[in-house]
Amino acid sequence: MPFEALPDRWPLVYSSGMQILLGKHIILGVSGGIAAYKAAELVRRLRDAGATVRVVMTTGAQAFVTPLTFQALSGNPVHTALLDPAAEAGMGHIELARWADLVLIAPASANLISRLAQGRGDDLLATICLATEAPIALAPSMNRVMWADAATQSNIEILQTRGMHRFGPAEGPQACGEVGEGRMMAVSELVERSAGLFLHQRLAGRRVTITAGPTREAIDPVRYLSNRSSGRMGFAMAEAAREAGATVTLIAGPVHLPTPPGVERIDVVSAAEMLAAVQSGIAMTDIFIAAAAVADYRPVRVAKDKIKKSDATLSLEMARTEDILATVASRAERPFCVGFAAETHDLADYARDKLERKQLDMVAANDVSQPGIGFDSEDNALLVLWRGGEKHLARARKTELARHLITLISERLSSR
Ligand code: CTP
Repeated sequence: MPFEALPDRWPLVYSSGMQILLGKHIILGVSGGIAAYKAAELVRRLRDAGATVRVVMTTGAQAFVTPLTFQALSGNPVHTALLDPAAEAGMGHIELARWADLVLIAPASANLISRLAQGRGDDLLATICLATEAPIALAPSMNRVMWADAATQSNIEILQTRGMHRFGPAEGPQACGEVGEGRMMAVSELVERSAGLFLHQRLAGRRVTITAGPTREAIDPVRYLSNRSSGRMGFAMAEAAREAGATVTLIAGPVHLPTPPGVERIDVVSAAEMLAAVQSGIAMTDIFIAAAAVADYRPVRVAKDKIKKSDATLSLEMARTEDILATVASRAERPFCVGFAAETHDLADYARDKLERKQLDMVAANDVSQPGIGFDSEDNALLVLWRGGEKHLARARKTELARHLITLISERLSSR
């Protein structure tokens, strides 16, 4: 078997001793660009990794490489035409769309990206993209100026918002003689990233509810009490859970962040609203992640009119808000509960105490006394604790940490 000869620089393909791509059905879409010749090597490598590959070529692609090349390499007929009576009787666009576990388009030209962004069904490849429920990944390849063009950037953003994955492009010398961002990502990396898509579908079929951001507790019609939470960690968790195949509901306090692709978002303002939103869907939830910095206290009375200044001091009477996480964790039929703990000292002790006191399944603790991480920043570092174990996740972007945390959650969930 050819796989045994594969180098160990493909850790994802061989993750946990498993051949992630073994038996997977991959449609390799090839559009018109000079990198089409590299797609030939890609077919080989995907097959080496155990995948079955069917190649779909656009008209432009056929100007660079012949279908015969791909037929020989893939061991399957190559598909080129949407309205081909012979193909429709055998494997037409709907059958191909259903057959695929992944549609990988490499190279993805500027023109193809534009057609997909418009949702066109004007050739076989574009129609398959409309008709498939499989994940779609694009490996853009084009001249650096074409890649940087506002139209291309807006088109690729639209596609990512719709849930398509983007692999690359890479930087370096280009076929046109220029140097910059626009080269197709290296074949070995494309195989890795494709494997990664399957590896990370660990929460497929799971429902995840996540709270994020601060809450605002009204004092009067124009004033409120709140905190500096940006919501980034919770939003990153929502994106990572979605990437892992979960159905995600994100309950967000007031933040300035775009909704991650494919995530249902419910906007709330106060702790009471957040609790109500959480409770309305909690019976359906498998995993509850409380990443919000919920206000612990709210003013007992909210003034109907704006409070006028008068005395030198002003006292507000405050009452405790309900602890959303503890409320969820105390349910008889409860989801897997993950809490966050922001501490300035004795991180591990306080976090373990929180785990026990709120009866959680996992706590992710961060030291907010360190500059540049935690609240209101892009980076974080976490100490993750559960009963019987812990793991330190070193400083990284919140998006990256979120992926690690989702992996830990899925591992704990499956060992429960
Ligand atoms: N939390 C919640 N509802 C609240 C308060 C907190 O769901 N009303 C959740 C947070 O989303 C977070 C965890 O509980 O996951 C934080 O626990 P908490 O005990 O509130 O943390 P601190 O306020 O930092 O704790 P302490 O006051 O004990 O330092």
